[in-house]
Amino acid sequence: MKPVLVSGIQPTGKLHIGNYLGSLKNFVALQDLDEYQCFFFIADLHSLTEDFNPKEKASQIRNVVADYLAAGLNPKQSVIFQQSEIPAHTELAVILNNFAPIGEMERMTQFKDKSKNQAGNINMGLFDYPVLMAADILLYGASVVPVGEDQVQHLELARTLARRFNAKFGKTFVEPKPILTEAKRIMSLDDPTKKMSKSRPQGCLFLDDEPDVIRKKVQRAVTDSGSEIKYDPERKPALSNLMSVYANMADVRMDQIESAFKGKGYGDFKKGLAEVIIQALAPFQEKKRKLLASPGIIKKALAAGNKKASLVADKKIEEIKEKIGISLD
Ligand code: AMP
Ligand code: TRP
Repeated sequence: MKPVLVSGIQPTGKLHIGNYLGSLKNFVALQDLDEYQCFFFIADLHSLTEDFNPKEKASQIRNVVADYLAAGLNPKQSVIFQQSEIPAHTELAVILNNFAPIGEMERMTQFKDKSKNQAGNINMGLFDYPVLMAADILLYGASVVPVGEDQVQHLELARTLARRFNAKFGKTFVEPKPILTEAKRIMSLDDPTKKMSKSRPQGCLFLDDEPDVIRKKVQRAVTDSGSEIKYDPERKPALSNLMSVYANMADVRMDQIESAFKGKGYGDFKKGLAEVIIQALAPFQEKKRKLLASPGIIKKALAAGNKKASLVADKKIEEIKEKIGISLD
């Protein structure tokens, strides 16, 4: 049996290149390695923890499935499913809640950040977000979870919950480890001290952006003083972030970028960067347009994935219920 890999993305709007380089691109690479049994899902329940419009949810869910498929996830190789269709996720989250002390939960950085961003809507779902995420992972026995750096603390909680549960009830869960990419933290185009995030759309490059929009956004991106194209995250944080986007979009090394732009300035580099991004995204965008035009493909892929995920999840939740003594059979 291959080791299990699980990851998910919330359907909250358009994906940006931070999501792509920090996670989605890696999902595809890991699937294609053929070393893991892969589960990729749409974290729709997680996405309810922030303000949302019910009229938009279904299309946001379809949009992430289209992103998955257009980026290269293949339903024949990976199980692609919708979180809310598998009740065992919520059941396990409710069970795990009893092993998650409030003090530990209050230390979660994402909860603190989001509480600031959405001060008018600090809800229990937001507080419990990391426990549901642990349930998503532990239910499938995942040993690895590809995510961006912002999710590492949540992975640590999943490990702690697994360890605590195993110690109390006998070996039930695998302790999962994060898999990070080189581009684990892409920064905002308008402020290299803040991570690229859809809560600051002015600093995002979206995967669906048209070539002209990409050119404009890259031209406007902030740069540092000086003019040399040199990777130096300490002294040139803005340029280094853009170079990291370049390197990972074009699959080239930093020194190759430095020699290609030797003697040239930021303007030339930005022109080159915009074209690299446009080229890298073109096949993705084309495939996605076709997928969205034939919703049957998306529906079918999800239905098949939901079935496969249920088989694994239903079996595991029964085992868990037996372990904690609430199963009467
Ligand atoms: P989300 O849309 O919040 O579910 O995030 C999807 C994935 O993208 C997660 O694995 C995040 O860690 C990752 N991610 C989000 N923002 C960034 C960023 N600026 N740089 C790298 N990875 C990111
Ligand atoms: N919290 C993750 C994010 O914002 C999304 C997510 C939910 C997830 N459940 C997960 C990622 C389980 C990996 C594994 O990016």
